[in-house]
Amino acid sequence: MRTMPDATRDEAVITALVAALGEKAVLTGAERPARNASDWSTLGPQPALAVVRPTTTEAVAAAMRICAAHGVPVVPQGGLTGLCGGARPLPGAVALSLERMTGIEAIDPASATMTVWAGTPLQVVQEAADAAGFLIPLDLGARGSCAIGGNASTNAGGNRVIRYGMTREMILGLEVVLPDGGIVTTLNRMIKNNAGYDLKHLFIGSEGTLGVITRLVLRLFPKPACTLAALCALPDYASVVGLLAAARRGLGPMLSAFEVMWPDYWETIAMTPGVRVPLPHGHAVYCLIEAQGTDETFDAPRFEAWLEAQAEAGLLADAVLSRSLADVKTFWGVRDACSEFPQVLGPHEPFDIGLPVAAMDEYVRACKAALSQRLPGAFALFYGHIGDGNLHIVAGLKGASPQPKDVIQEVVYGLVREFGGTVSAEHGIGLTKKPWLGHVRSEAEIALMRRLKAAMDPNGVLNPGKVV
Ligand code: LAC
Ligand code: ZN
Repeated sequence: MRTMPDATRDEAVITALVAALGEKAVLTGAERPARNASDWSTLGPQPALAVVRPTTTEAVAAAMRICAAHGVPVVPQGGLTGLCGGARPLPGAVALSLERMTGIEAIDPASATMTVWAGTPLQVVQEAADAAGFLIPLDLGARGSCAIGGNASTNAGGNRVIRYGMTREMILGLEVVLPDGGIVTTLNRMIKNNAGYDLKHLFIGSEGTLGVITRLVLRLFPKPACTLAALCALPDYASVVGLLAAARRGLGPMLSAFEVMWPDYWETIAMTPGVRVPLPHGHAVYCLIEAQGTDETFDAPRFEAWLEAQAEAGLLADAVLSRSLADVKTFWGVRDACSEFPQVLGPHEPFDIGLPVAAMDEYVRACKAALSQRLPGAFALFYGHIGDGNLHIVAGLKGASPQPKDVIQEVVYGLVREFGGTVSAEHGIGLTKKPWLGHVRSEAEIALMRRLKAAMDPNGVLNPGKVV
């Protein structure tokens, strides 16, 4: 690191960035868009020294080299929908936004792959795959805003992990800019490639701390011929565990989502404007099951017969079956409406913990009890991708400003440790969960993470202080 005074250093780095990338690519002062100062976490804005928006991989590399030479940290940014502060600028850092590096470069139907620029919004990627007769199975509520590069660098989960896995499973190749400005291009299109270390996995899920993803090769999947869904009410949590096992057995690879909602969630959603809840209140727990088939003539009756068998076996208290894609959409509306929580609930803390499936309900009860003891009047809603062992919680104290974040986190993560879970099943660590990493990772694991970071970014230029 240089020892130049900050103001001189800041001026020098901006001059060098403008000279290398052009004025349009370097926004400073009042030109800096407000949106680049924050992500969707509850941390609030932190403006960057400059917002740099390159349009080529070479320009990303040049920006990295310049910042590294001046000892100015770089924070990579995609769609800024992360919930943990991973893409939030650090004081004095340059925000490196991939927002102008968008578009589909190529689709290869024979190997079923798509090569895409990292700044492309997920929904654009999904639509391009659909137009080519394929499916990009990655899907999550922020699809319209999040960028595929950010999905990769956070190893996004989402709604269909139970069938297709997380983002990691959908990536065959990457192009990456390293903290020293080097470019590593591995746009592999083969499913099998054991030629040495599989380097892409260093960058997938490391939240922009080891490299900046600029291009990706994604796996394309066959487009399902039909999508079927059922919204179910269950008499107790034991029935959820039974239904999940029955769905895995009876629906096999058709099973594409298994989402569970506890009653507080259901009742809150019912009050959300524009959302229709197709089942009454008062049940112990609710479940959304989705299946994707290859032939509606066979698969629709098969799905219906499977559901009837579960009702006969006593696992269901009530259920509605989709009769059209519009029904499937209505059912997902109940699950996707959680994106309205900021408006409906006001300030709160969001969580994406992981737990063994069998322990979920006991955890929910313990968490509710501990929260109302420590914070009388607090609300807590529970829902999530239970088929993947991933529970979401939104908790807060209505009207409190600031929110009692620390107490809520202590309760939620303290119990996570007791139950043998994880503090992040899908959203990552970023800044908000960094103090809690040691709850669920051993000293040896964290030491190895730090060794990797030090080996790849010895001067701590790229997203320093995030994750570990
Ligand atoms: C969800 C996001 C918040 O599952 O992970 O709704
Ligand atoms: Zn989720």
